Amino acid sequence: MASSNVCSPRTVRLALALGGGLLLLAARAVPLVAQTPTETPKNPYTPTPQVIQEGMAAFRANCAYCHGMDARGMRAPDLTGVFARGASEDGLFRLVRRGIPGTEMPPANVFLQEPDTWKVVMYLRTLAVTPPTETPRGNAENGERVFRARCATCHKVSGRGGVLGPDLSRIGISRTRASLARQIRGGNEEIKPGYQPVTITTHEGRTIRGTRKNEDMMSVQIMDTAERLQGVVKSDVRTVSAIADDKKSLMPAYGVDQLNESDLDDLLRYLGTLKSAPTAAVTATGVIP
Ligand code: HEC
Ligand code: HEC
Repeated sequence: MASSNVCSPRTVRLALALGGGLLLLAARAVPLVAQTPTETPKNPYTPTPQVIQEGMAAFRANCAYCHGMDARGMRAPDLTGVFARGASEDGLFRLVRRGIPGTEMPPANVFLQEPDTWKVVMYLRTLAVTPPTETPRGNAENGERVFRARCATCHKVSGRGGVLGPDLSRIGISRTRASLARQIRGGNEEIKPGYQPVTITTHEGRTIRGTRKNEDMMSVQIMDTAERLQGVVKSDVRTVSAIADDKKSLMPAYGVDQLNESDLDDLLRYLGTLKSAPTAAVTATGVIP
């Protein structure tokens, strides 16, 4: 259940706290080596086949869900190149323990023991770097035009656009091209947390569609398709007859008839360029994911 708080003092405080964290991440080009060691963890293991095997198992159980079974990225980045880009084992360990505030990358210290974290890091070290499978196709300039015309009504980039869907200012880092293509064509694996589609039916038979933003025992808050936040008191039986979760995302599926392959290539090329710092996305929507 989505429990994000829209514009509450807590959200503001959290956003400020994350703003502080931004400084740490500002030097994004070398994030895994440039961190100041707050604690100095020491890897207790040597890379024996058994340790690597256990690291792979822990990766598959805890990380593959987002990064893919082979670590080549899915709804999270490809991890096969992190060491080649200059990460150290210590730096990677700290990043994984802490997560990346303001993004979907969770702090592993809440679900993974330290020893298993080391093993995961050592497993990642054994992976061969995947060279890009294809040269990037598409024209980013036209992609941006397509985005403004078709997507910006619901999605913000760098502070401009709608808020019914998630802010996409950083989508070029967080999702792979293949997973973006699936999302646009309507074959997405799952609905992003905080954007669960919901339909409220009133007794007059009117339906309000929106995304579920906040809920407690008494009420539910949704953002309707006109981007208005609406609070609904559940027990108000005079008006509300049903509050139902939907299976289908509020994001339309764009088939080839609506978005041809060439425009899709351009759009994907443009989305791949969106790499702003993590907090931009958070403060722009006012919703902590
Ligand atoms: C809920 C989804 C999710 C899970 C589970 C998850 N990650 Fe991530 N991870 C992400 C996302 C999204 C990013 C990109 C964040 C960003 O920078 O926008 C990321 C980024 C990273 C990065 C930085 C990559 C880089 O090139 O800078 C590393 C390393 C990483 N994850 C490792 C792990 C490991 C190891 C685990 C398991 C212990 C894990 N992640 C679990 C979503 C996830
Ligand atoms: C009518 C509103 C609407 C339009 C128009 C729309 N989207 Fe979305 N989009 C959403 C919603 C709502 C979600 C979150 C629910 C989900 O995951 O399906 C979403 C999710 C996404 C995501 C996943 C974001 C993440 O952080 O994982 C991407 C990428 C995306 N949309 C891209 C696009 C692109 C590109 C277009 C234009 C071709 C577009 N959307 C048009 C509403 C919209």
